[in-house]
Amino acid sequence: MLHVIDHPVIRERLTVIRSLDSGTAAFRHALHDIARLMCFEVTRNMATTAIEVETPLKKTEGHRLTRPIILVPILRAGVGLMNGFAEILPEAAVGYIGLYRDEETHQPHSYYCKLPAHLAGSEVILIDPMLATGGSAADAADELKKAGATAIRFACLIAAPEGVAAFEARHPDIPIFTAALDEKLNENAYIVPGLGDAGDRYFGT
Ligand code: PRP
Ligand code: URA
Repeated sequence: MLHVIDHPVIRERLTVIRSLDSGTAAFRHALHDIARLMCFEVTRNMATTAIEVETPLKKTEGHRLTRPIILVPILRAGVGLMNGFAEILPEAAVGYIGLYRDEETHQPHSYYCKLPAHLAGSEVILIDPMLATGGSAADAADELKKAGATAIRFACLIAAPEGVAAFEARHPDIPIFTAALDEKLNENAYIVPGLGDAGDRYFGT
């Protein structure tokens, strides 16, 4: 269920994102570009329904996405990745789940949840740049399922092997899409080599 999206342009933008020398503007710009590129792979196997379309010459078969899409970024850093998805999927509804990771225990704490009502019949894309211990993404997926979501996929920028294993153990039904699978977590549960703190780098805090 793990899809590592390997693409030369993504690799190049990810290098900008990782670099200590990239400031807030370069970081934001590169994250936005990657989100737009990742969106194609994350949505690749979504079902479409045939519809009739009339060109200037004749009627022919066209397609529309069968189910509505709901984007759910995990606050804060998920917002940075969500905007690119929303550009490619402008009709998508958006929900928010707010979680922060305790600096000592590394356990996620929930502080906000606002989700659209039609989760059950929709394709839900849960979005967060970092899958470190996996606790935040797994708790967010719990909240989505509790609220009725049945078709969920998780999109992140960088995953640690530990986070992938933890997330898959709790949510074996949810595919993970990532632009990179890094080496490991360090003693502070940061992804190595990673990019540092995604929220701080995106929001310039
Ligand atoms: C970061 C990141 C994830 C979480 C990943 O958020 O955006 O949500 O850490 O870590 P985990 O897999 O170990 O749970 P953070 O808690 O730093 O909050 P922020 O986005 O508000 O900065
Ligand atoms: N959250 C981050 O922002 N970065 C990490 O490496 C781990 C968790």
